[in-house]
Amino acid sequence: MHIPFIAANWKMNTTVAEAEKLVGTLLGPLSSIDGIEKVLCPPFVSLSLIKKILQGSNIKLGAQNMYFEAEGAYTGEISPLMLSELCEYVILGHSERRRYFKESDNMINQKIRAALGNKLKPILCVGEILEENMSGKTEKVIRRQLKGALTEVEATHDIVIAYEPVWAIGTGRASSGEQAVTTIKFIRNVITELWNKDIALNLRILYGGSVNSSNVTEFVSHSEIDGALVGGASLKADEFVNIVSQTASIKKQAFPNN
Ligand code: PGA
Repeated sequence: MHIPFIAANWKMNTTVAEAEKLVGTLLGPLSSIDGIEKVLCPPFVSLSLIKKILQGSNIKLGAQNMYFEAEGAYTGEISPLMLSELCEYVILGHSERRRYFKESDNMINQKIRAALGNKLKPILCVGEILEENMSGKTEKVIRRQLKGALTEVEATHDIVIAYEPVWAIGTGRASSGEQAVTTIKFIRNVITELWNKDIALNLRILYGGSVNSSNVTEFVSHSEIDGALVGGASLKADEFVNIVSQTASIKKQAFPNN
């Protein structure tokens, strides 16, 4: 079952007061859109308050990162155990974590295993940088990232993969729908090799990178793309609601049996 999926990655934006206001605006309109999983990923400091606001609604909560140890002397880090009380999802392997915080495939692998071990569902991000794309290395990079992140991880439906070409993130230059479909098909092939065909076909795979309400249909109108991971546009309530509602209605019309 491919339940469509849209996640909002607020990144390092919003104070607690701003986050409270944004969720307050989103709550009504987002709750009324069904047939789609909606996940908000605010900064850590707002998780607890937003969990309370979302209580009883059909909107889910995710974190943007975590460390892999359960507890201990790791000043400044947040553990899977702590997050498991607060949210259902956690974004792991985001290109900004890889780039600015030097997260390796090995570290991301440890995080994926720790998340699953604590009943958190990872949203695993993979994607190539511009140079790799231009020199035809996209598939090589994606394969390395997937293999690295999923080593010794048992086949599971509890992972969502987000294909996010790094050159498309925050640049206003989204990939084309076709390009995204090609890479997402490749991701399904790699998952078949690593796990099995059944999981590869059923796993939800998103596109991310400059998604907005004007281009979202270009991606979600393809059966291979189950939804989107939205950064910048998710900070504007109207824009995000529009993205979720277009996705839900396209998926309902185009793939009613999915
Ligand atoms: P963007 O970010 O939508 O602002 O490009 C997407 C992401 O980084 O997840």
